[in-house]
Amino acid sequence: MPGLFLTFEGGEGSGKSTQIERLAARLRSRGLDPVVTREPGGTPLGDRIRALLLDHAHRPRPETEAFLLEASRAELVAHVIRPALAAGRVVVCDRYDDSTLAYQGGGRGLDTDVLRAMNRFATGGLVPDLTFLFDVDPAVGLGRRAGAGDANRLDVEPEPFHRRVHDAYRALAGRDPARWVVVDAAGRPDAIEQAIAAAVESKLAAAR
Ligand code: TYD
Repeated sequence: MPGLFLTFEGGEGSGKSTQIERLAARLRSRGLDPVVTREPGGTPLGDRIRALLLDHAHRPRPETEAFLLEASRAELVAHVIRPALAAGRVVVCDRYDDSTLAYQGGGRGLDTDVLRAMNRFATGGLVPDLTFLFDVDPAVGLGRRAGAGDANRLDVEPEPFHRRVHDAYRALAGRDPARWVVVDAAGRPDAIEQAIAAAVESKLAAAR
């Protein structure tokens, strides 16, 4: 059976981590052994890059940020995602290259054609089978994240930044509805879980 590559995207405080855990538990209960990973990070080198990226001590140029993210991504795709897919496993990734288009493109204003080329360079053109967008108003998401009290360097960007990220995500999802599933992240967690499970089940069935 071919593997299945699922990615989770969205702004801050959208609740995607909880839903990733629920989906992974569901997949395990039906005898699958999903690989759950995240960006930036997910490899020993990627985790070091992640720490640099989120550290409040540094103020990298947007370009520097993009290179570091792509470096982490190249490691993750080569050492974790591609081998798992080749072994027929389901890969669940918390953020992937759409995050770069939304944050560094929409948020920071870098040229999205350049970012797309960088994404292709890092991933070798590996595109997810399904991408869930956790759609939440930035003011609500930032409020939730502030309540959690663990703001990283990108969380503390001003609200207009997060609004541009949000708009960029919506535009990406609108352009490719075959890949994107937009989830109302303000909805009930159980309803969100069901919607995600249904979409994944139908992909799994189609892959057989
Ligand atoms: P994290 O705490 O994992 O955020 P979240 O829980 O919201 O996923 O921090 C990752 C941060 O990195 C997040 O603010 C988004 C940002 N990011 C980018 O700006 N570009 C990218 O390509 C990726 C993968 C992440």
